[in-house]
Amino acid sequence: MNILDIIAKKRDKKELTKEEIEYFITNYTKGEISDYQAAALIMAIYINGMNEEETKNLTLAMAYSGKTLDLSDISETIIDKHSSGGIGDKVTLILMPLVASFGIPVAKMSGRGLGITGGTIDKLESIPGYRTDLSLDEFKKNIKEIGISLIGQTENLAPADKKIYALRDTISCTESIPLIASSIMSKKIAAGANKLVLEVTCGSGAFMKTKEEAEKLSKVMSKIGELAEIETVCVITNMEQPIGKNIGNALEVKEALEALNGKMEKDVEEIVLTLGAQIMKLAGISSDVNKNKEMILENLKNGKAYDKFIELVKKQYGDVEYLKHIENAKYIIPVKTSKGGYIEKLNAESIGRAALSLGARQNKKRR
Ligand code: URA
Repeated sequence: MNILDIIAKKRDKKELTKEEIEYFITNYTKGEISDYQAAALIMAIYINGMNEEETKNLTLAMAYSGKTLDLSDISETIIDKHSSGGIGDKVTLILMPLVASFGIPVAKMSGRGLGITGGTIDKLESIPGYRTDLSLDEFKKNIKEIGISLIGQTENLAPADKKIYALRDTISCTESIPLIASSIMSKKIAAGANKLVLEVTCGSGAFMKTKEEAEKLSKVMSKIGELAEIETVCVITNMEQPIGKNIGNALEVKEALEALNGKMEKDVEEIVLTLGAQIMKLAGISSDVNKNKEMILENLKNGKAYDKFIELVKKQYGDVEYLKHIENAKYIIPVKTSKGGYIEKLNAESIGRAALSLGARQNKKRR
């Protein structure tokens, strides 16, 4: 078997076998296939797609490209959440400490920004000292001790995703159902959670531009979840406009802190309550989603969710003092309108591009 034949096969719109997919993933992870050959294959997948069987095989090969975590000694229920990407999406920063504040164990491996979308890891790294690169032992220890850990992709867990994710970002191969589904689900399988809520974003600031595409991505990921015995719920969310009122790593951390202090923008609140209520249902707190929403609002009001966030930051070596005075950007240019009126709509995609050009990103070199 060799990579040239595999690239040619996908270029010519043919189906790849399980063995060919595994050959690519194993050898690319080991560094025995070059970035330019991997880029050619990823582009061929992007253009010609993958069927269900290929997508499943790609996901499993990526999930088992490194270690997988067994968290069953911590709890019967380990929760994870993932977003398919958006602009101003700080939901993870608010929702995961909130969930952990109910004693539901949270084990989350997040990504960096991809394409025009922001990444939770870039956001967390705007907190001085916060370590997203914990060892697997530290990750597990934190979940045991404080009920939550939020880390980035590691060299050990789904390392193939770490490499392919960074590569896709540099070659304009982000909006692809097989590539997104395998990227998200490989991380989830490797990280050991058994209950999963997926925020499938849809609109100009998301990879899935239409509801039909978002439904298709949801179906593919749910099917992989079923296969991996991860109870999966997908919620399609609107990404026509940025979420909340800030876009940019530190600013989004600041907004998340305000939200955890009970001052949350309405659109953010709707997503947090919807996803949170589903997570609590999966965790067996209550099957009544309205009751779950009330409980969530209570833990936002009584400060338990905020305290959990601070505990998490401390535990992962972040500077909690900094959180008290996150400053606005050094240069602020007010844009004034010459006419009176209301802003009816903000284009999420244009704002994402603007944030990207200002450097809201720490990935592999893009040019
Ligand atoms: N999030 C991921 O982890 N991967 C993608 O491809 C898109 C969003």
